[in-house]
Amino acid sequence: MTAKKGIFITMEGPDGAGKSTQIDLLKKYLEDKGYNILLTRDPGGNDISEAIRGIILNKDFTEMGYMTELLLYASARAQLVKENIKPALEAGTAVIADRFVDSSAVYQGIGRGLGIDTVYKVNEFALQGIMPDMTILMDLDAEVGLARKKNQAELDRMERESVDFHKKVVAGYRDLADRYPERILKVDAALQVQEIHDIIVANIEKKLGLE
Ligand code: TMP
Repeated sequence: MTAKKGIFITMEGPDGAGKSTQIDLLKKYLEDKGYNILLTRDPGGNDISEAIRGIILNKDFTEMGYMTELLLYASARAQLVKENIKPALEAGTAVIADRFVDSSAVYQGIGRGLGIDTVYKVNEFALQGIMPDMTILMDLDAEVGLARKKNQAELDRMERESVDFHKKVVAGYRDLADRYPERILKVDAALQVQEIHDIIVANIEKKLGLE
């Protein structure tokens, strides 16, 4: 049997879109296909990136500048790529990341107004040539996502942003999906869990040649 080639799939969407549930189902599906799996999250996934995550999301750091925020996300990502994602892909692993550079494109690029192109340019250094083979966008209106999150006790610094900010994020994601239709699959996150999973699987099989 030939060694499997690594694949990199990212899950994106506004806060509260149900990414985690779909990540778990996707993990099971890819395991059944014989893949070793690395489940990770951005920002985070290793000690250093998790520590940076703690700084970024600290709700008391209200003075944080947008450029600082952008660079901290990029720093956390640089370590995640170096320490986890790159080695895993080289070993033939299927990597599933809860968020990646597209989150910066929409939250910092559109939400904060820094511009998508600036965000990708800043991140180029952190990514070391690594981009997702496929990105799943869980598409959901901002109000619905935020309402789901409101049930959770402590909101972090980003979740505390205004509804307007989160609406910009959602619009940004939709634009991004139009911009990169080959890579980004936009799925209606209001559908049933199993329906969403079936759509994801059908597309993975088509896009990545799995069967
Ligand atoms: P999470 O709670 O979904 O792991 O994400 C943390 C928060 O950080 C979430 O509100 C989205 C935001 N975020 C950015 O603003 N830029 C980024 O580059 C990433 C990865 C996340």
